[in-house]
Amino acid sequence: MNYNAAVTGWGWYSPAQVLSNHDLEQLVDTNDAWIQSRTGIRERRIAGPGETTSSMATIAARQALEEAELSASDLDLIICATTTPDHLIPATACLIQHNLGADRAAAFDLNTACTGFLYALATGTQFIKAGGAKRILVVAGETLSRFMNWDDRSTCILFGDGAAAVVLEATTQSTGVLSTVLGSRGDVEQMLTIEAGGSARPASAETVAEKAHCVRMRGNEIFKLAVRTMTQSAHEALAKAGLTTDDLRAVIPHQANLRIVTATQEALGLASERMFINIDRYGNTGACSIPIALGEFVNANPMEIGDHLLLVAFGGGLTWGAAVLRWANIPAVKQERLESMRPKKLVRTA
Ligand code: ACO
Repeated sequence: MNYNAAVTGWGWYSPAQVLSNHDLEQLVDTNDAWIQSRTGIRERRIAGPGETTSSMATIAARQALEEAELSASDLDLIICATTTPDHLIPATACLIQHNLGADRAAAFDLNTACTGFLYALATGTQFIKAGGAKRILVVAGETLSRFMNWDDRSTCILFGDGAAAVVLEATTQSTGVLSTVLGSRGDVEQMLTIEAGGSARPASAETVAEKAHCVRMRGNEIFKLAVRTMTQSAHEALAKAGLTTDDLRAVIPHQANLRIVTATQEALGLASERMFINIDRYGNTGACSIPIALGEFVNANPMEIGDHLLLVAFGGGLTWGAAVLRWANIPAVKQERLESMRPKKLVRTA
């Protein structure tokens, strides 16, 4: 049987605490007008004292499961995309597995920074196509605020916290993830780093004093590469799916900077209303920026069966990627699920 991977559930979580540009004016030498004109961001959400990547991701995951009408114990696999895990060990995916009670699921983390959700989606799709899993939770969460140098105005204005998840399910319909394109360039890794805390530079009093556990970035250089790689991977993913930009209902880009999104939209020759933007309210939420935007878009714009969405991102590494989704007949996928879960009749031989 040939299986495709369809999205049947989605959900997201944003912490309650809002950090506005005006709040940031109290912390660093910046101002609301500069931040809005250079990034498009008005405010971002910051995790509360008791919140972690796994706790936020668990809330998002429960919503996605509820939307899919699926129980956690029906999951075969949990893939968590994060750059800001709760710990180095155990994997955040394992904490989510435990919180959900997903007692049959394998679980692992994946880190390709802001491209993480697309790498996780592509990996989940391959598991389904290869027959290795039927129901997968693809979840992304970031607590970037805990890795910010709150004295560095070139980074602390950009990022926010949150989590989002989708349920990916096997279907025999010609829908779901039609194509994925992934890429990387490790030679420019210095453009975005959290240098210390790994085996190359373990935590020490020196690394803490240097704030080497915080995000460092060469924003200007990233900017140019981001537009080029997002445009190219978008074209490649569309070509692989046999589609053009005219076939798209909308593009859900990684929300890194409004100017990057607008430049990509112009390079793709798209009308601005087909590019979904929510960076003004969330900032750059790393790996969960695309699934938060996807959830918001889908809830605000009811999807028709067969609608196409293009997801496109770049991130630290450097990494980039794109995926084309064809919206599935979700009730029919749920019916397929019920049939595949129904206990098989015993065939007695005489
Ligand atoms: N407030 C006021 N002024 C500032 C601020 C600030 N927060 N930050 C920088 N400036 C000043 C600079 O000091 C500089 O001043 P100077 O001209 O006197 O030297 C001036 O503003 C211009 O600085 P640039 O860095 O050239 O500003 P730019 O227009 O490039 O905008 C920004 C900076 C917003 C960071 C932009 O480069 C950007 O968004 N880059 C992409 C970053 C990104 O997307 N990173 C995420 C990667 S994805 C991932 O994987 C996490």
